Order: sequence, then structure tokens, then C-alpha cells
Amino acid sequence: MLDQISKAILITGCSTGIGRATAEHLAAGGHTVYATARRLESIADLGAKGYKTLALDVTDEASMQAAVRAVEQAEGAVGVLVNNAGYAQDGPIEEVPLDAVRRQFETNVFGLVRLTQLVLPGMRAQKWGRVINVSSVGGKVVFPGGGFYHATKWAVEAISEAMRFELRPFGIDVAVIEPGAIKSSYEETSLGAMAGGGEGSPYAQFNRERAERVAAAYAGKTAGPEAVAKVIEHAATSKHPRTRYTVTAQARMVMSLRRILPDRAWDRFIGTQFKPPRVE
Ligand SMILES: NC(=O)c1ccc[n+]([C@@H]2O[C@H](COP(=O)([O-])OP(=O)(O)OC[C@H]3O[C@@H](n4cnc5c(N)ncnc54)[C@H](OP(=O)(O)O)[C@@H]3O)[C@@H](O)[C@H]2O)c1
Repeated sequence: MLDQISKAILITGCSTGIGRATAEHLAAGGHTVYATARRLESIADLGAKGYKTLALDVTDEASMQAAVRAVEQAEGAVGVLVNNAGYAQDGPIEEVPLDAVRRQFETNVFGLVRLTQLVLPGMRAQKWGRVINVSSVGGKVVFPGGGFYHATKWAVEAISEAMRFELRPFGIDVAVIEPGAIKSSYEETSLGAMAGGGEGSPYAQFNRERAERVAAAYAGKTAGPEAVAKVIEHAATSKHPRTRYTVTAQARMVMSLRRILPDRAWDRFIGTQFKPPRVE
């Protein structure tokens, strides 16, 4: 075991939203935080305020290795890894190009896995660590038009479940964060990345109405990213972190509904929220 346990916190995707709010919240609480982003200029203001910042693109092996090496050289180990970077590739399953699907998995799943693999030897050496994976309410339920994004978050849930058991003997806790709708750049990015539904597509109307539905949901009363930052702080610092943190009452309600409703009843509920594709 190392002389002193490192509790340094490495966070991915700190340019905006949940990652940025979490870095600010934890740094304000006196924790050693490494805020990272794939474009260093997007967190230059944090660097100017004295934060420790690093470039880190979760789809770039060399960038991930360099970031982990930098923290390990300075602190001994990454104590807490917050796998936050992610985005939603929306669009109907039939029409999202597979390259876009692969990019979605590269960022939301393979990036999270690879970065975790890189920090684990350091955590094991000091017999202490925390891996905090930002999943989603969408890791437990599926909304139509978002199937591939949900698939990545379901994958994050499954991988986290396995890791929780595998890593416990090494003193490493794994926690999953499941936010509902949170104000951030998420909605803008996902609407911008929406695929399919072009001219003549049977999903044109479906995509349009879904985009309006999502925009309306985010225009309503939505929690801020600080709500997620607070539960990540608990997962990172509490002596007894929970295995799972669901953020927003609406997310808890939707997840409970999914647990109790049979599939057809759930589909009828979803039909009250989203309009299906119309057959001419
Ligand atoms: N907001 C919600 O309603 C909500 C709900 C449930 C779960 N989540 C999850 O919460 C996490 C954070 O999302 P957010 O709401 O804070 O959205 P956001 O404001 O769009 O932030 C996403 C962050 O991920 C970063 N990112 C994307 N690709 C990356 C890559 N290859 N390498 C490193 N960073 C990358 C973005 O960086 P760039 O600026 O460089 O693109 C940005 O910093 C995501 O995993 C998302 O799925 C969000």
C-alpha cells in the first residue's frame, strides 16, 4: 500500500453541465479535483481560477493514458474517478447510421471502460478507490427515438453491476448516478445529433414531434446540474457510499412505473408521452 492514500478526484467532461458543476462543487469543498475536457480551452476559465485541469478525450487512448499518468505522478493514484463524459445520439433505430452508433458507444461505454481500466491498478495498489459512473434514468427505462443512447446507459449499468462485485475486495466502491432531466448542454447536443427522419423518411414526423417533446420537457421545471454534483460528492466522500443515486423525483417515479407495469401497459403509458411514427 502507498504511504498515503490519494483521494484525488478525476472528472471527465467538465466543459459544461454536470461535469463542470461537479468539479466546481467538489473543489469548493476543499477536495483535490482534476477537471478534464477534450478541448482544454473549454475549461481555461477553471484553470485561471487555480483548478487543476487536464486534456482528456475518452475516445483517445493516448489522451487517457497521459491524463492518468499526470494524476498518478502528482498524487500517487487517481482516488476517485467520475466517468461523466457522454452525449445522446438520438434517432429511430432503422435510420441512425452505424458509424454514429459506434461513436456513441465509443464515448459513453468504451471510453468509460478504458479509463476505468487505466486507473484501477493505482486504486488497487492503495487498497482504496471510488468509481462513479454517470448513467441516467435512461439506464433503466427506454424512450422511443433514443434507443442507442439508452443501450449505452444500460451497458453502463451492467458493467457497473459487475465491477461493484469484482472491485469490492480491493477496497474500491462503485456507484451509479441516474439523473433525470437536468439543465445542461445535453438537450442541445442531443437535438443537434439527432439522425434520420430526413425528407421522405417514414420517421420525419416522429423525429420532429419527439424533438418538440424533448425541448418542452427541458423548457419545463428542470433541476440544475448542482443537484447531481451533490450526490456525486456523497458517492465520492461518504464512508458508506450508496450503490445507486437517482436524481429528481420524476426520474424515481418513471423508474418505479417501469418496474411495476407489464410491457404493453408501459407502451400505452409511453404513448401518452410520445407520438408513434404515422403510417401513410
Ligand atoms: N442532462 C441530462 O438531462 C442528463 C440526464 C441523464 C444523464 N445525463 C448524463 O450526464 C452526463 C453529462 O451530461 P450533461 O448533462 O452535463 O451534458 P453536457 O452539458 O452536454 O456535457 C457533456 C460533457 O461530455 C463531454 N464529452 C463528450 N464527448 C467527449 C469525449 N469524447 N471526451 C471527453 N469528453 C466528452 C462534453 O465535452 P464537449 O464540450 O467537448 O462536447 C461535455 O463536457 C452524460 O453522461 C449524460 O449522458 C445527463
